[in-house]
Amino acid sequence: MFADLSGKVALVTGGGQGLGLGIVLKLAGQGADIAIGDISDETAAAAAKQVEAMGRKAYTANMNVTDKDSIIAAVEKITTEAGQIDILVNNAGVAGAPGSTGTGFRDIDWDFTWQVNVKGLADVTEAVLPQMRARQAGKIINISSVAAKAAKYQTAYYATTKMAVVAYTQALAREFALANINVNAVAPGRIWTQFHKDWMAEREALGDEAVAGKDKFDVFMGALKEVIPMGRPQEPSDIGALVTFLASEEARNITGQTIQCDGGQVMV
Ligand SMILES: NC(=O)c1ccc[n+]([C@@H]2O[C@H](COP(=O)([O-])OP(=O)(O)OC[C@H]3O[C@@H](n4cnc5c(N)ncnc54)[C@H](O)[C@@H]3O)[C@@H](O)[C@H]2O)c1
Repeated sequence: MFADLSGKVALVTGGGQGLGLGIVLKLAGQGADIAIGDISDETAAAAAKQVEAMGRKAYTANMNVTDKDSIIAAVEKITTEAGQIDILVNNAGVAGAPGSTGTGFRDIDWDFTWQVNVKGLADVTEAVLPQMRARQAGKIINISSVAAKAAKYQTAYYATTKMAVVAYTQALAREFALANINVNAVAPGRIWTQFHKDWMAEREALGDEAVAGKDKFDVFMGALKEVIPMGRPQEPSDIGALVTFLASEEARNITGQTIQCDGGQVMV
């Protein structure tokens, strides 16, 4: 089977819903056992049930990527229960701090978004790296965003953090190449997840006329038709398919890359 992940254990942060769930299901479909580290026990448990229904093992651990103790405890729990972590998918991320306007330049916007999207991602990676180094094998896939290379209106904090993910991916890939650890990033385009629904709700609460009183899915679709050459949104399964390839041995000579999955929005 192409991209056979049988016998591998994949940890997906934020794997309970949205893109994370799409990644979880694709990895499980290729034979991987799955560990979900999520701040929400409820969605993690529901996702684990879906994995088990596919005949794979599922492990869950409460993990808040902004809290180092919680990361270390979760990685220890998963490693003890599953034996090891072969694949790490750093997916947990936020659009901004609650109530963010995107351009208000409040400290909390920079601090919170950075803490989750960059520092949290790095802290999870550092918690998992020692076992990958000891085995001289591992796959790390970081979720960036189309916003890194094609920032949208009012995405200053977010776009900055997602470009930082690109730089972190490159630095880590170089550092651990001889340890046989592949480090890559995926830059998704636009997916209709809770992430976008919450962002629109915040825009409406702040009185944004482009959103207020309108059907939010229509606004989402209308906006993306203007910017996505292929004219359609991406699905969590699209992102899961690319992550699965990068996690496979077929991708063993790909490292330090950020690969777009965005319907053609960025073509460099
Ligand atoms: N939705 C999009 O259009 C889009 C586009 C590009 C990139 N992304 C990126 O994809 C990733 C997932 O986005 P999504 O749309 O699925 O979001 P989502 O809000 O639907 O899901 C995020 C998941 O992460 C978990 N999470 C949130 N904060 C956490 C924390 N501190 N610790 C651990 N888990 C936490 C949530 O419980 C949830 O399961 C993010 O990194 C986001 O930046 C999303």
